[in-house]
This record gives sequence, structure tokens and C-alpha cells, in this order.
Amino acid sequence: MVSLGRREILHEVDLTVRPGEIVGLIGETGSGKTTLARSLLGLNRIERGSARVAGVDVAGLRGRALREFRRAGAVQYVFQDPLQSLDPDLPVGRSVGEAWEVRGAADVAGRVAEALVRVGLDPDLAARLPSEVSGGQRQRAAIARAMITSPRLLLCDEPVSALDASSRTAVLELLLDLRSSVGQLFISHDLGSVAGVTDRIAVLYQGRIVEEGPTAQVIGEPQHPYTHLLVGSAPTLGGESMSRHDRAALRAQL
Ligand SMILES: Nc1ncnc2c1ncn2[C@@H]1O[C@H](COP(=O)(O)OP(=O)(O)OP(=O)(O)O)[C@@H](O)[C@H]1O
Ligand SMILES: [Mg+2]
Repeated sequence: MVSLGRREILHEVDLTVRPGEIVGLIGETGSGKTTLARSLLGLNRIERGSARVAGVDVAGLRGRALREFRRAGAVQYVFQDPLQSLDPDLPVGRSVGEAWEVRGAADVAGRVAEALVRVGLDPDLAARLPSEVSGGQRQRAAIARAMITSPRLLLCDEPVSALDASSRTAVLELLLDLRSSVGQLFISHDLGSVAGVTDRIAVLYQGRIVEEGPTAQVIGEPQHPYTHLLVGSAPTLGGESMSRHDRAALRAQL
């Protein structure tokens, strides 16, 4: 259970992301998706329950242990806006290599170049400022930064929502490529993106997981009225899109 201020935001959340898989987390705005992801980094306190990542229960960590856990980078966050992880005043390569620099690693520049190539970027990009590269390139660089600590879990919170269609496809393909290296929680409003990359989907509704299963099953045979609503209103997924009348009727059931 997670509360923010006096409100209980998350309850009855039981979710597993196994190595090598991408789990989609969908749910309407305010349902608690970001709160859930932040809890896995210890940024929101879990009051009841546990959150195990790579053998560590994040819910039980406090103070220094929590800071060390975060610094070790077993869990990394990929934000909708890559400028939340790339310093706008530093060349991209400096932000990407920061964790290595902090640890005093040898040949940081060479490692950064490798990390950039791994996400499909030209290593020369390291010298440019974030404002001097495209939105898609910025997001790839943010992913490169996240990957350098060899995380066990990548929390991707609307990672492609701010990108144009071609950058979106490229970043989705990159996340799929990285799947064998890192388990991912992929948060999105856009069921099209979720359907394209995930192995399983969990549906969060008012702080509860109301449905969870293999992607094809959740999209093909949605059980919960909210999932129906989502699938029905995604034009490329649900066949005929729902009429406004159907949608209103479903809303009334929620
Ligand atoms: N720092 C905070 N203090 C108090 N309440 C908060 C705080 N952050 C978020 N909330 C509330 O918690 C609930 C869940 O918010 P959250 O950001 O997790 O939703 P979300 O599913 O990520 O939404 P979106 O799709 O818009 O990103 C909302 O009702 C929100 O208003
Ligand atoms: Mg959010």
C-alpha cells in the first residue's frame, strides 16, 4: 500500500516483471502508474507489502541503505521527458557516463561511445548538448544512461509519448532489443505502443490492478469494463471503434 499525503493511492497491487520480459502498465490518468513506478525506486514509501528487486525488498530500505540501493542502479527510470535524466547544460556524453565517472572507472569516454552505439546512436553525439540533438536521440541517450549500471529493472514511464511517429517506432524497437538484457515495466496511455512491445499487460484502475495477463489475451478478450473501454477506443486494436453511446454506457458501469 502506498499513500501520498493523506490519500491511499495504491492498494492490492501484485505484479511481477521477470527477467527478459516487458510488462505493460496501463490505466487512466491519476490511476497511480507513476506512483507505482516511483515506489519501486523507494521514492514513494510502501507502507504495507513488499517490492523485491534483484533480491532486495525496496519497501524495507531507509536512509543510507536506500540511497545506496538507488546509486547501485539496479532499478532505473526512463522518463517521458529525457531532460529529467540528461543535464541540459552538459554534453550528452557526460550525462550518459556520469555513473562511471562517479565510480572512477577507466576509459569513460570509450565506454560512453559503446553505450551510445548500443542504443543506435553515433558516438560523436557525446560532444553535443541535449538541445543539439533530436527528441528521439535524446530519449535514446537517456536510455543509454539508464543501461550503464546494468539494471535489473527499467521503469519506462510514457517513454515514447512525446516523440514523433518515426522516433517512437525506433525507441520502441530499442526497448524490444534491450528486453533480453533488462526486464521492463512499460507505462503508457497508448495501447498501440503497449501492444507492440509487451509480453503481458496489467491494468491499473483507481490504484488496483484489475486485470493482468498475456498481451494478446488482455487485448483480445478484455475482462474489466475499463480495459474494454481502452481497447474499444484504440482504433488500430479493437476493430470497429466504439460509438460514443457504447462508451458512455461502459463508463456508467465503471
Ligand atoms: N506528490 C503527491 N502528493 C499527493 N498526491 C499525489 C502526488 N503525486 C501524485 N498524487 C496523486 O496520486 C494519484 C496517482 O497519481 P499518478 O501520478 O501515480 O498517476 P498516473 O497514473 O501516473 O497518471 P498519468 O497517466 O496522468 O501520468 C493522483 O490522484 C495524483 O493526484
Ligand atoms: Mg504518470
